[in-house]
Amino acid sequence: MIFGVDYYPEHWDRSEWENQARLMREGGFNTVRMGEFAWKLFEKNEGEFDFSLLDDAIAVLAGYGIKVILGTPTAAPPKWLVNKYDILQRDKYGRKKGWGARRESCANNPDYIAKSKIIVEKMAEHYKDNPNVIAWQIDNEFGCHASTRCYCEHCRKRFGEWLSKKYASIDDMNKKWGNVFWSLDYDSFDDVILPAYNSCESIHGDTWSHNPALDLEFRRFSSDSWVDYQKMQIDILRKHTDKPITHNLMGHFSDISAYDLSADLDFVSWDNYPDNQWGDSEYEYVSMAHENMRGAKNKNFIVMEQQSGACGWDIMGSTPRPNQLRLWTYQAVAHGAEGMVYFRFRTALFGMEQYWYGVLDHDGMPRRRFYELKKTGEELKKLEKYIVNAENKYDALIVKSYDNAWGHDIKRHAKNYNYENHLYDFYKANVDLNITTAVSHESYSKYKVVYMPAYNIVEDSELDEIKSYVENGGNLVLTFRSGTRDEYNRVRPLALPGVFKEIAGIEAVEFDALRTSVEICGEVNGTAKIWCDIIEPDTAKTIASYNGEYYKGKAAVTMNSYGKGTVYYVGCDLDKGGMEQLVKLISENAGIEIIEAPAGVEIIKRDGYRIVLNHTENAVNTGIKGKSLISDTDFDGTLEGYGVEFVEQGGHI
Ligand code: GAL
Repeated sequence: MIFGVDYYPEHWDRSEWENQARLMREGGFNTVRMGEFAWKLFEKNEGEFDFSLLDDAIAVLAGYGIKVILGTPTAAPPKWLVNKYDILQRDKYGRKKGWGARRESCANNPDYIAKSKIIVEKMAEHYKDNPNVIAWQIDNEFGCHASTRCYCEHCRKRFGEWLSKKYASIDDMNKKWGNVFWSLDYDSFDDVILPAYNSCESIHGDTWSHNPALDLEFRRFSSDSWVDYQKMQIDILRKHTDKPITHNLMGHFSDISAYDLSADLDFVSWDNYPDNQWGDSEYEYVSMAHENMRGAKNKNFIVMEQQSGACGWDIMGSTPRPNQLRLWTYQAVAHGAEGMVYFRFRTALFGMEQYWYGVLDHDGMPRRRFYELKKTGEELKKLEKYIVNAENKYDALIVKSYDNAWGHDIKRHAKNYNYENHLYDFYKANVDLNITTAVSHESYSKYKVVYMPAYNIVEDSELDEIKSYVENGGNLVLTFRSGTRDEYNRVRPLALPGVFKEIAGIEAVEFDALRTSVEICGEVNGTAKIWCDIIEPDTAKTIASYNGEYYKGKAAVTMNSYGKGTVYYVGCDLDKGGMEQLVKLISENAGIEIIEAPAGVEIIKRDGYRIVLNHTENAVNTGIKGKSLISDTDFDGTLEGYGVEFVEQGGHI
């Protein structure tokens, strides 16, 4: 199992390397990820390659039995490159992005592509036979720092080409987009614009001011552009090596499709910072991020950067509490991580990230965090058979759709409405009931319940699978705005909920984007604050109704038998309590086991055992007893603050 650290030998005097490698070995770390920002070091001037620093560092590490995951350095182009070639992105106001940080180049820029090809090829040739290089990471965090969409002339041209491959003719595209609206018809694909700044943008810049079809296609194109850029690098590496290839993705990030990005990779890896300058994440949010990453390829993954100290760029989040690094490690493992790499080994003395604390502080001395990880690594070794190739017993699936993430961002439907938050509300309620829940986009038949929240854009080709899942006994949960748009982001000429009307057995005759809250009562009681669909059940049964507004007494949540299965339609958002009641009702009807545990305790089901995590700082009685697979002793149910157990439950292991 990979148990490593992110390491930047170029940040340290060579005289320190030996001692750092020795400390890594002492900490039990067997792998480092490095190289991903070192373009200038590898290519000092155009065409002058020198890998000697990296060679020497790899050799020192090898002396201590430490292997390397090598990053291609294209996230940080050097100054000579931007001086000579105009590779920088343009924002939607036409402004050139400044150089001086990272991720400023355009995926469609021919010079950036050409120069990237060269550096990747040189690295591949140089390291292809190095036995200490065990895997490759392409670039780093595509899309980070709002860099997915670029509005330069190269992008505009390539967008036209991309569209010309997709549509039969320009007239076909005009028709599908509805360009007749405001005289927007084009005469050729070369003419198509990018959805940049125009006369309709609001002063706050937060109104998407273009035809929603153009906007959605541009998002798909921009996502594809990075997938293609990554594929270009993969193809080069593949000519020289069959070592596994990954990219360091970003959990909840939705600007680039994680499904498409990971399709070309051997495995997914990502970076996990639960508590940093920009906020302290709820544990369920972190679990969902792990599941997003596992679901991207429906395969276990590696955490390539795991928070290991206090972090921020200028102010810091809190210092991980004693036991918390261990807890975060097991939380990742519980959701499919089978390798852990901690960011970073020693905290940087200079540069942007001086306050992004790593395993060691600035002085390089091992302290509490180092020893906690050392102990964790020793434990992981013993538990390896429960980690590598382990599978959770998933009962429920949350469908995450990138088309819908983009579509809902373009048309936000209601104030305070956010697609990702809506998905998270369902995920959180499931996890709080300790229902092991996946986040992905396919193989519905594996799950007892499939949540398809706000599935607004639905392609005709998806309908059969959704219908047959229900017909064969599945439980499908749809929510407001589902089923009403086609793949071109056109509204379908159908009554609400569009293509789902028949299977849901209802019609939403009206709706209300809320300015105030409305009470819901019945088998589910709660409050809606964002949206209410006013439902007339046809074959469906009402589960809860509104208790306010002119639609008092009308159905809010319904349930319909269809084939051997059931379709739930949830016409409104719900507060935490209401959401929990709803998910409980749906799960009980579907025969899913619910485990009530104290707040902050998370339980993940596996075949023959359960992983129990205490996300609170106090000891709790989790109510789960059995043999501990960590200590081989009886576990009486009480977990210390931030404690973890693997508890045998009988059955297979
Ligand atoms: C990650 C990134 C790292 C480092 C870290 C801390 O997103 O991949 O290179 O920047 O954040 O900011």
